[in-house]
Parts: sequence; C-alpha cells; structure tokens
Amino acid sequence: MGYREVYEGWKADPEGFWMEAARAIDWDEAPKQALFDRGDDIYEWFADARVNTCWNAVDRHVEQGRGDQTAIIHDSPVTHTKREISYVELRNRVASLAGALRAKGVEKGDRVIIYMPMIPEALEAMLACARLGAIHSVVFGGFAAHELAVRIDDAQPKAIIAASCGVEPGRVVHYKPLLDGAIDQAAHTPEFCVIFQREQEVAHLEEGRDVNWHGFQYGVEPAGCVPVEGNHPAYILYTSGTTGQPKGVVRPTAGHLVALNWTMKNIYNVDPGEVFWAASDVGWVVGHSYICYAPLIQGNTTVVFEGKPVGTPDAGTFWRVIEEHNVKSFFTAPTAFRAVKREDPQGEFVRKYDLSGLRAIYLAGERADPDTIEWTREMTGKPVYDHWWQTETGYTIAGNPVGIEPLPVKLGSPTVPMPGYDIQILGEDGTPLPAGELGAIAVKLPLPPGTLPTLWNAADRFRKSYLATFPGYYETGDAGMIDEDGYVWIMARTDDVINVAGHRLSTGGMEEVLASHPDVAECAVIGVSDALKGQLPMGFLCLSKGVDRPHAEIVTECVDLVRDRIGPVAAFKLAVVVDRLPKTRSGKILRGVMVSIADGKDYKMPATIDDPAILDEIAAAVKTIGYPTG
Ligand code: COA
Ligand code: AMP
Repeated sequence: MGYREVYEGWKADPEGFWMEAARAIDWDEAPKQALFDRGDDIYEWFADARVNTCWNAVDRHVEQGRGDQTAIIHDSPVTHTKREISYVELRNRVASLAGALRAKGVEKGDRVIIYMPMIPEALEAMLACARLGAIHSVVFGGFAAHELAVRIDDAQPKAIIAASCGVEPGRVVHYKPLLDGAIDQAAHTPEFCVIFQREQEVAHLEEGRDVNWHGFQYGVEPAGCVPVEGNHPAYILYTSGTTGQPKGVVRPTAGHLVALNWTMKNIYNVDPGEVFWAASDVGWVVGHSYICYAPLIQGNTTVVFEGKPVGTPDAGTFWRVIEEHNVKSFFTAPTAFRAVKREDPQGEFVRKYDLSGLRAIYLAGERADPDTIEWTREMTGKPVYDHWWQTETGYTIAGNPVGIEPLPVKLGSPTVPMPGYDIQILGEDGTPLPAGELGAIAVKLPLPPGTLPTLWNAADRFRKSYLATFPGYYETGDAGMIDEDGYVWIMARTDDVINVAGHRLSTGGMEEVLASHPDVAECAVIGVSDALKGQLPMGFLCLSKGVDRPHAEIVTECVDLVRDRIGPVAAFKLAVVVDRLPKTRSGKILRGVMVSIADGKDYKMPATIDDPAILDEIAAAVKTIGYPTG
C-alpha cells in the first residue's frame, strides 16, 4: 500500500486504523473502543484500556528475548565517557528506582519533576515514574531557578529527581543550587528530592529532604509495572505560550504508546533491534518521544548524546557517533546542521567517517531552510526529510512517510499530512481556503491518539488557546498553505512564540521579565532572523521618566535579568533603549513591522500607525546593536 491508500484508509475508518495500530502494544486490558467523545470538542482515545508504558518500553522486550540487546547508549564527549545499558539492566535499574520511589510514598497519579542533563539516569527516572503510574514532568536544564519554580508550583510534585550538575562545553552547570533556589522560590514544597551525584560535581544534600540516588535504593523491593487507565496522564511537559506562564501539555498514556510505536517504522523506517538517534534533549518533546519512549517501545537501541554538534570536540562528532554506533536513522534540528556547516563547509569531517549504515536524516523543531537540507544531502549522500510537529502533538503532523513509501521531497515543505491529521488552511473567518492560499493551519477534530487532551490545571486555557478560534478545529499556531500536490508549507507562527536554535520561547514571557526591571516603563521583544539559530530575541526598552543612568548599564542588567529568570537557553543578548515604541492608534505595539525593520525587509506602512516617525527611530536603534546583519 502506498501513502495515498494508507491516508485514505485512515480517513475512511479512523477508529479502525488506530485499533489496528493498537495491536502492537501489550495491554493489561485491551481497548474495546478507540475514540471516546466527551462532548464540547473534547476527545479521548483507548480510555477503556489498561496498560503500562514502562512494561511496553522495557520489560516486554526482556520477556521476548531482547534482554541482552543494548537499550541505551550514552555517548558523552563532554565527559569523555561512553556506556551501554542492556534491556535487562535497564529493567532492573528502573524497577529498583521505582521501588525506592514507592518506598518513599510515590504512587500512581503523584507528580515527579525531573531536572537532569543528558544521562541515561534521566530516562530511567522517566521510566520509573511510568512504572508506578506517577506523572513526570521533565524540566530542561537550560532553564533558570525561576522557571523551575513556576513548574513546581503548577505541577505540585511529591518528589523531584535531579542530577548534581550538567556539563556544557567549558562549564559545569550547577543544578543543585538552581534546584535549591527554585524550591525556596516556590510556594509548593516537594516531600523529598533524589539527587544523582555526578563525578564532575558532588552536591550538598539537604538533611531531611534530599536523598542520594544510589543510597535510597539500598534494600528496597523492586517495583512491578502498575497498569493504568488508557487516558491516565503519562507526563506533563511545559511549553512556551504567549505569556510567562508556560502551558502544561498533558500526554495520555495509551494513545502515546500506540501512536509513537506506529511512527517508528512508518516515518523513521527502523525495525526493532536497530539503532535510532535523536540529537536533542530530554527536556524537549523530541527528547521525550524520540530519545526515550518511541525507540524503546519499538525495541530499538536509543542514543543519549551529551554534547553539541560542534566543539565537542569538533564538527565531526555527529558523523563519529553515527559510524561508531551504527545509527540507522538520525534526527536533529536544522540549527545543528547550520552549526556543523559553518565549521566544516566542505564536509571534510564527513568524509572521515563511514556513514554507509545510515539510511536517512530527519529534521524538525524549526523551519528547515533549503540551503541546510541541500548541504546535508550533498555532504552525506543521504535523504534528508523535514517533518513538522509540536509539543502538543508529540509526533509528526506532516512528514514524509518513508516506511510506507518515500515521497519526492520539495525543499521547504515538510511533505504531507500523516494519517490521523486532517490538516486544513483556514481564513480569518474560519472557512477552509483553496490550495496555494496562505492561512492559519488547523487540524480537524478529533486529534489522533497521543496528542494533548487538555492542559494541566488549565482546561479553560486549553480551550481558549487551541479550540476557540476555529470551532471544530485544533489551532496549531502556525500559518502556511497546502499546495496542489497536497504538500504542506509552514511559514510562520501566528502568535508571540519564537524559535531559537529549535527551542520554543515566549517573547511575552521575556517582556514580563524586562518590565519587572525598576527602570523599564515599557518594552517589546521580537524575534529577529539569525543565520545560525533561525531566530534570536531582541528587546526594546522604554525607560521610566527621570531615569538618567547610562543606557548600556540598564541594557546589561536587563540581559542578566532574562538569563537569571528564564535561563541561558533564552539566548537574550540583544537589547536597546528607545524613546517610544511604534503603536497603532489604539495602542497595539507593531511588533511585525519592528521585525521587518530589524531584518532589513520591506514592509507596508500600517494605516493605523500612530506616528510613522517612530519607525526611523527604531531602525536607527537597531543599527546601534549591529542589525540587520545582512
Ligand atoms: N543546560 C544548561 N545550559 C544550557 C543547556 C543545558 N541543557 N543547553 C543550552 N544551554 C545554554 C548554552 O550553554 C548557552 O549558554 P551561553 O549563553 O552561556 O553560551 C545558552 O544556553 C544558549 O544555548 P543554545 O541556544 O543551544 O546555543 P549554543 O551556542 O550552546 O549552541 C547550537 C548552538 C546550534 C550548537 C545548539 O543550539 C544546538 O545544538 N542546537 C540543537 C538544537 C536542538 O537540539 N533543539 C532541540 C529541539 S529538536
Ligand atoms: P515545539 O513545541 O517546541 O516542538 O515547537 C513547535 C513549533 O516549532 C511549531 O509550531 C512550529 O512553529 C515550529 N516547527 C517545528 N517543526 C517545524 C518544521 N519542520 N518546519 C517549520 N516549523 C517547525
């Protein structure tokens, strides 16, 4: 069957399609019904089933004779270490950790925050929660204490599992003081913290609250897998919205298992036993789905890579890992290849390694620019497939169904809708637009299994953010079009979310931080184009009356403030003081025009602008910080 037949087959009988896919999962109680319509545009999948994620990702492979197969390869150029963990070892380690968590009172439904770098123990912590039916929430290591505190208050975890430190090139990231700071700032206090002591830095343990990862497992009874209802939340993953309060995307257990398992063969074209590598971080959705869960659910070997595309130690790292571990399918963000290309434009490092085992390269997380795809294709001789998805969906909305039938690549398009997704381009009034016309990208409800059924603690926000604008549809927040051949094109976000090095960030969140500076009366943050990271945030600061301190000093304080409150991952380094911000007569800041000015692009003078002269002031201010870069 080709893609068209599979897609049409799904469309004709969506429930039958997913029931068939569900057969690949080991159920404690198999689903009798696929879709549950809860009314008011709320849907759930496989809610009548009982199942355990950890059993499917770990134990069943041991039972089926894969115990000696390597489950996880940790390749860490930043610590000069490599290590492999077999499925049987993984099962024993996870059962022991889960047993220790249970002995301290963690049960099904309890939340556990995980704050760890790219080490196998991060996956073990996720799987131990899944084993108990506890709901994990992983927080990316590049976020500051304040962001962690916000998540602690929202998720109200019984426990936090953290490492003593992370290792970034040239510096140790002191996780423990960040964790202590976050707990101090948060209103909610976890009952206990489990600290994995790394040899790069041994952290101080707080008497009565912190326990040592190894020590607290001593003598405990290993835990078995607890079956949970199909609609039980597997995890919460916070992602940026339009404000500083992140959205807690909820992932339902059964749909997650079924859908992720389906993607491994049909999209990534790997079979059980083969090595799959997603070079991302467990703190992002790519890490949840394709470093941890999907490869393990299918019985693949997954690579946990603790390093960067360049500088650890050089631009050949990706190729070395692919050769050394015989990676069949490789997934990363376009920005990573832009970094490699900048250091190794002629592909000298590529030629040093044998990539003959590699079948294909997959890109997602941000727009894949044609130059980067072409360069990667040319240097490696491998097909490069862009695919488009979001934290909310957890897997591909539009991609190339390589395991079904590789479709011709059109540079700049992530290819076609995957089964499960009826993608429509809508006009402002919600009517579907014809092929080739630009509009809001929406998905006809119901969304497929595994996608978010709600936001944690925020059912109203879920409705407002995703369901309210276009009744009967899920609003993706992206704008684009579908062409005559049915290919999807993603053009821009329709909200204040920007994408920096494949990381999704909220300009609204940054504005909230800047506005808290005592000298800042008003501010705006926009995303400007950057050749390496895709976008970078740029801040415009209007000072309060009477402030006569040097502007450079205030700018430095503001840059430090964002780093301190949101974290280094915000990459907020560009800011400038201006007298006024361009606004419409009704007072709305003209951010779109500011982006065009900063990027040196033509723009149409908005008819509603209050005072056009301000635009020249903005252009002059941008020049003072070295933009546009051309
Ligand atoms: N813990 C602590 N700090 C972190 C971190 C982590 N896990 N990850 C990143 N940071 C820090 C970086 O050290 C950097 O700090 P600095 O300002 O002191 O230099 C800052 O956050 C910005 O990081 P980043 O935007 O990643 O830039 P970089 O200069 O370190 O690296 C790339 C640039 C392109 C090499 C890098 O962004 C990359 O590999 N991107 C891949 C994208 C990716 O995996 N995206 C995930 C979605 S698929
Ligand atoms: P995240 O939730 O962090 O995965 O970010 C999702 C957002 O990143 C999407 O809504 C898009 O704006 C953008 N994005 C992800 N993948 C792609 C892609 N292949 N092409 C264009 N934009 C993408």
